Amino acid sequence: MSILVTGGAGYIGSHTVKELLKKNYEVIVLDNLSSGHRELVPGGHFIQADLCSAAELKKVFSDHRIEAVMHFAALIQVGESCADPQKYYRHNLLSTLNLLEAMLEAGVKYFIFSSSAAVYGEPKEIPIREDHPLNPASPYGVTKEMVERILPDYDRAYGLKYVSLRYFNAAGADPDGQMGEWHQPETHLIPNILLHLLGRNPDFQVFGNDFPTPDGTAIRDYIHVTDLAIAHILALERLRLENSSQAINLGSSRGHSVLEVIRTAEKVTGKKVNLKFGPRRPGDVPVLLASSEKAETWLGWKRNFSELEFIIESAWRWHQRH
Ligand code: UFG
Repeated sequence: MSILVTGGAGYIGSHTVKELLKKNYEVIVLDNLSSGHRELVPGGHFIQADLCSAAELKKVFSDHRIEAVMHFAALIQVGESCADPQKYYRHNLLSTLNLLEAMLEAGVKYFIFSSSAAVYGEPKEIPIREDHPLNPASPYGVTKEMVERILPDYDRAYGLKYVSLRYFNAAGADPDGQMGEWHQPETHLIPNILLHLLGRNPDFQVFGNDFPTPDGTAIRDYIHVTDLAIAHILALERLRLENSSQAINLGSSRGHSVLEVIRTAEKVTGKKVNLKFGPRRPGDVPVLLASSEKAETWLGWKRNFSELEFIIESAWRWHQRH
């Protein structure tokens, strides 16, 4: 089966390309390289193109026989999306509309969408189940929610079958060390700690120690990027079998505070963080924790790499060499 992977030169996309190739899928990677890196793409046929260009996109579908699409390509910085929402609506929403149009025109029926826990906003109940109301707190989250709201209409009207995967905190690096997290600028907690321990991020701060949590720092649900990648393949396989569209959380159902992550990073690396506390980052909620029940039952998903220590070990191997 041949799969188009948009954003396949990015963090989660490149790890998924690797897992697809291992399972002998034919992979076509499409990326505009605005934030992705050609070096991260582990194989498949690479096309540099922009989803905002409907013409380029249609050519990709007419040149290749594509049977399903995994759509990772998106901008991901919550803060930037508040400062420049137009950029996010163009790159996350318009691009997805173009992609769906090209898919429908080419008769491609299966769509795996990279959604986010950001669609929930501040949770009313923990752990968060998929039927929790959607109330995103940033334009980034709104772009993900809008696509999720569009998809059921496309299913009803055009028979498009989709799975929206709502990622919690993707983290870690390929266990073989081939690829890892490479964002510019880096905003995520684990790489920021590790870059600090490597002397490349002297300004590392903990954003807020006055949250209503046991140690005052925010709690998140960290999930290894390879476990996420594998979930995409399970989602596609299940979708083809059941022909029934779904939205599914991908998390570990276990929460770790920022201080716990720092202590674990110190243990794994044998190095000490110069602990500094700053104010809360706007929009950060105290606790985000997924219910993984549906991923386990509907996808049959098991997490093999998502122990926090392994997440950090794998990321540490990547950052030391990279
Ligand atoms: N943090 C720090 N210092 C840093 C970086 C992060 O203290 O240098 C804290 C944050 O304030 C937060 C926690 O560490 O409390 C995790 O922060 P990340 O930036 O790693 O992740 P977020 O939970 O903010 O964001 C993730 C995804 C987003 C998604 C969001 C909500 O990366 O794409 O979850 O689902 F929108």
